[in-house]
Amino acid sequence: MNSQNPSLRLGVLISGSGSNLQALIDAIENQQLPGVEIALVVSNKADAYGLQRALKHRLPAIYLIAHESIAPEFIAPKPTMSESEIRLTALLRLFQVDLIVLAGWMRILRAAFLQQFHQRVINIHPALLPDDGTGKTYTTSDGTQIPVFRGLHAVQQALDAGVKITGSCVHFVTPEVDAGPVICRQEVAIEEGETEETLHERLKVVEHRLIVEAVKRCKSVE
Ligand code: GRF
Repeated sequence: MNSQNPSLRLGVLISGSGSNLQALIDAIENQQLPGVEIALVVSNKADAYGLQRALKHRLPAIYLIAHESIAPEFIAPKPTMSESEIRLTALLRLFQVDLIVLAGWMRILRAAFLQQFHQRVINIHPALLPDDGTGKTYTTSDGTQIPVFRGLHAVQQALDAGVKITGSCVHFVTPEVDAGPVICRQEVAIEEGETEETLHERLKVVEHRLIVEAVKRCKSVE
């Protein structure tokens, strides 16, 4: 945190529609997140609709090209970060970001990048993770054990597994994908005839509340 600036400055990283970004924008504009501001929005996709959302609200927004043009041996002092992670780090520092919110960001961040922002990177995952984020099973509130769905297509994975309950959570990001401590989560019952699209839309409604709640919690412990 910058001690001269008491607000929590968010860097929101997106790759797509940005509906979770919109939830944060709305919460800030509606005074539901006092002392929180969005310092920067970064997209790794030039045509991400979330960039338009950011610009509409006059937020600094940038498309960060993922192309790696420089051979790793020329990248100092952190050769274990990718070139785009080095550029991302510079941007986040320039905009004095305190908390990085992965809101549909579709690139894995390496350990060397994450080490710089210990406990300051959070992610929204459209499936249920146990409290500490690790392990292969999750016990739902009705006592049923279900597998933990990580990585891509977690919504479809839940449908394919035939589970009755899934959900979403916001968790701290660790080098292992979708395996960090959970900040908040909510279970969602899967309905008859549900498709990946309909279920994901319903999960997103839940996520829009969860992401605001998670940022509030991070603000309260800063
Ligand atoms: C969310 O469902 C989130 O769980 C996943 O990516 C999706 C992003 O949606 N990580 P949006 O771009 O915020 O609408």
